[in-house]
Amino acid sequence: MRLLIYSLAILGITAMTSVTPPAAAQQSYSGGLVVADHPVAAQAGLEVLEQGGNAVDAAVATSFCLSVVRPYSCGIGGGGFMIVNLPAHNGAPKVTTALNYRETAPRSVQPDHFEKLGDSLASRFTGHAVAIPGTVAGLLSVLDQFGSLDRAAVLAPAIRAAEQGFAADAHYVETAHELVEWLEESPGRTTTHPFLWKRMLREGRVTEGDTIKLPEQARALRLIAEQGADAFYKGEIADAIIKTVQEYGGVMTPADLTSYKPSQVKPLRGDFRGLTILTMPPPSSGGIAILQMAGLLERVEQRENTTLGKLRHNSGKYVHLVAEAMKHAFADRAEWLGDAAFVSVPVDHLLSDAYLDSLAKTISLDQTKPPEAYGTSLAAVDDSGTSHFCVVDQWGGAVSCTETINLEFGSRLAVEEFGFFLNNEMDDFTTISGVANAFGLKQSDLNLPAPGKRPLSSMTPILAINDAGEAQLLVGASGGPRIITSTFQTLLNAIVFKMNAQDAVAAPRFHHQWRPNVLSLEEQWAPGDGQGIASLEDMRAFMEGISEWDALHRTLESAGHKTGPIKLVGAVQFARKQADGWTGAADPRKGGAAAGR
Ligand code: GLY
Repeated sequence: MRLLIYSLAILGITAMTSVTPPAAAQQSYSGGLVVADHPVAAQAGLEVLEQGGNAVDAAVATSFCLSVVRPYSCGIGGGGFMIVNLPAHNGAPKVTTALNYRETAPRSVQPDHFEKLGDSLASRFTGHAVAIPGTVAGLLSVLDQFGSLDRAAVLAPAIRAAEQGFAADAHYVETAHELVEWLEESPGRTTTHPFLWKRMLREGRVTEGDTIKLPEQARALRLIAEQGADAFYKGEIADAIIKTVQEYGGVMTPADLTSYKPSQVKPLRGDFRGLTILTMPPPSSGGIAILQMAGLLERVEQRENTTLGKLRHNSGKYVHLVAEAMKHAFADRAEWLGDAAFVSVPVDHLLSDAYLDSLAKTISLDQTKPPEAYGTSLAAVDDSGTSHFCVVDQWGGAVSCTETINLEFGSRLAVEEFGFFLNNEMDDFTTISGVANAFGLKQSDLNLPAPGKRPLSSMTPILAINDAGEAQLLVGASGGPRIITSTFQTLLNAIVFKMNAQDAVAAPRFHHQWRPNVLSLEEQWAPGDGQGIASLEDMRAFMEGISEWDALHRTLESAGHKTGPIKLVGAVQFARKQADGWTGAADPRKGGAAAGR
């Protein structure tokens, strides 16, 4: 049957659809909106908005709650980036700023740290993997400066979730299964990681609906509510962090923790089809990459005297063109980017008209090129964790924030006394020259570790404003380098293809990170096996799916792309202002929610 349908389809007997999905009506909110990748965290932010809190109060509440309910994605053992845009309100001036609370390398870590250890994997699952966490310092700094509620109020929902527990959802269980496989890969791991094995995975038996409680983390959060950031960076919690890191071989000291400081910087700015994008400068690589990709595609449109929107969404020609922009941006990421506080990053050059003009000229409409033809390489490189949320308040204040502990459950090392996991952000450095990190990203020596340096990140919180400086759109994702490509595709879906929030987030996605030289297509894109066809309508849709899939592959193959399947390209959270209020969508790939009033 499947073969017959397939044959009919490639003979062109089925019609190709050529329309962008229609923008269906979606619930809109004028009194505030929170979109997070867990419904309990979205609700925590909403609760704070309902108490009269502003977007910063709600963002801090959402983040602390995510630390509890998405303990494998982000949390107080990790770090993040936040873009804030608040209108003048109640005598307080307008605020437009970016918070960098990315983790830093311990002070004794030199560029050859991992080379000397002789183990590039030490940056993943040992004490050497752990960078100084920045989340608590970052959140409390932004709350102190721009929030309106006190610590107790914004931490209350997270403390409640940790004490009363939350239900393991499908995403939790799926992640748990991957971790069970990892623990069972190597004898003894279940014994060396007892908190992960027993508490979080229930010895491999965790199922959907199980209640997960974290009373130890509730105690940490109470201490933070009472004493502020010092409770985390000094005293009992700090002692427990150092004990854990050193027990697993790491070199972090108490002085590393007490000297941690978040930094506040000017957001990176760029134009995107009538809006001004505010995003994160280095050590985020995503801000530069998104602005480069947008600039390249606009130049190709001008050269060809057409618009991307005239192509069919996710058709072969469209995927090819966007992938070409991705390849240039990721080639430059690999060559030029690192922590700008330590190394010189040519941000202005990478985003200059002259440079983007020169790259855009190399983009062919129908042929891809070998990796050496992308970006500007001085020398060839030798060759799920993370959570994004969006908050808007009743006054138009907005926060777009991405946080991470890097891989799922970070270093997998728990600070057991306080019920949270430590990041493995050291793996985002170039640990050994020319060696790829866990995401297959090869990065230049500009990203080697150094005392107090922050590793390059793909986290890309975006907040787009209009000419009056008012927030119009918030977006970002989790997924390592797929953060950049999933965020960019969601922007294109919403702005160029005019999809509503839900469709813009849910549409199938693709990913190219230059090296490896593979164009990955999400598995959900492929037509199914035809099981469950119950009507003529189902049959028609199924055949159209096969026909489109086949046409896509033929176009990409003839353009010279090597394609491959990928389970997911990121998990995106998105919010957008419309005439009657804000609409938002959490990615169905992770199971979050939009909660508004
Ligand atoms: N840890 C993932 C990233 O920051 O890119």
